[in-house]
Amino acid sequence: MILVTGGAGFIGANFILDWLRTSDQPVLNVDKLTYAGNLQTLSPLRDNPRHVFSQVDICDRIALDGLLKQHAPRAVLHFAAESHVDRSIHGPGDFVQTNLVGTFTLLEAVRSYLHTLSEASKARFRFLHVSTDEVYGSLSATDPQFSETMPYAPNSPYAATKAGSDHLVRAYHHTYGLQTLTTNCSNNYGPYQFPEKLIPLMIANALAGKPLPVYGDGQNVRDWLYVGDHCSAIREVLQHGKPGETYNVGGWNEKKNLDVVHTLCDLLDRLKPKASGSYRSQIISVKDRPGHDRRYAIDARKLERELGWRPAETFETGLARTVQWYLDNQAWSDEVASGEYRTWVETHYAQRA
Ligand code: NAD
Ligand code: DAU
Repeated sequence: MILVTGGAGFIGANFILDWLRTSDQPVLNVDKLTYAGNLQTLSPLRDNPRHVFSQVDICDRIALDGLLKQHAPRAVLHFAAESHVDRSIHGPGDFVQTNLVGTFTLLEAVRSYLHTLSEASKARFRFLHVSTDEVYGSLSATDPQFSETMPYAPNSPYAATKAGSDHLVRAYHHTYGLQTLTTNCSNNYGPYQFPEKLIPLMIANALAGKPLPVYGDGQNVRDWLYVGDHCSAIREVLQHGKPGETYNVGGWNEKKNLDVVHTLCDLLDRLKPKASGSYRSQIISVKDRPGHDRRYAIDARKLERELGWRPAETFETGLARTVQWYLDNQAWSDEVASGEYRTWVETHYAQRA
């Protein structure tokens, strides 16, 4: 069995759905179910005995010890995190707690679990830490892309806590010999993404006839990766990655935010035309994000050279699939866009207007 943390979130859930389609190895899904965790996403697995769900906080050492003892996983894939940069600016405390204290607690639980294993099982065990390109900071338009040897320079509370968690994972490899793997990935998009992030937010707002709020001048650059490609990279790294190494994962798709929003509007104009005019007319410029990183770009050549991984989707094919998915799964979006999410939108965007 493998243990996945954060498996009710966007990437973790996509990972589990893909994993159980292609592997017969069961998954123990450990998730606290914060606002971002949604079991509705995993409803196709309701009657699947190979998916075991446990609602547990990764800061809860006693619960983690019990789960590791009971299920004896051969690997831990650590997705659980507070993941939204804007929320980390409003309230960094939860980010320190989950991303730093939670990762530390999980590493300690795993370290103690490994003492109960044979030397051979210990050597086979893997701790795969899912991290972000934001740990490297911000690039100018002409800087080279982020490579694995670049110094860390996190700029938001989110990025700083992810950087700290990466350092802890690194230290557990060097100090205790834990067989770790770390992936640093660029911006994901695809099905089941919480509509606080750029792409699902723009799709939801466009369809609801609401403004499409672009921060600042809209010229900030992100590298975009279809979530299914991120999941295939993680499977590859888990199977063939070298313990102690880090791998950058990216889509070779650098785009300016405004161009992303324009492309989304054009896709919607084609797939679900408005009675009159274009969705582009809903775009507005709002106050910039404090400390907004200008550009992220990933050099993913190590992953290709050493493990033969390349993304399958282009930005065009991935985005078209994504828009179609949101159009076909309006019920999922409607269910998500209730409760806590509404409060977030009201407070966060009211301040930017
Ligand atoms: P998400 O916010 O959609 O999901 C996070 C999940 O973690 C939720 O299910 C939540 O309930 C769970 N969780 C949060 N705190 C927890 C805790 N204390 N204990 C147990 N579970 C907890 O995040 P995501 O976008 O799926 O990101 C997953 C991972 O990938 C994160 O580590 C993130 O830093 C990283 N990452 C994300 C992106 C991206 O573009 N979304 C890109 C690169 C890396
Ligand atoms: O780079 C990887 C990271 O990508 C992940 O580690 C994070 O978990 C993930 O949230 C994402 O961070 P970003 O801050 O880049 O993603 P977000 O979708 O919040 O914003 C993308 C860009 O769009 C960013 O430049 C801010 C801008 N933006 C975002 C929102 C929500 C807007 O212009 N308007 C908006 O309403």
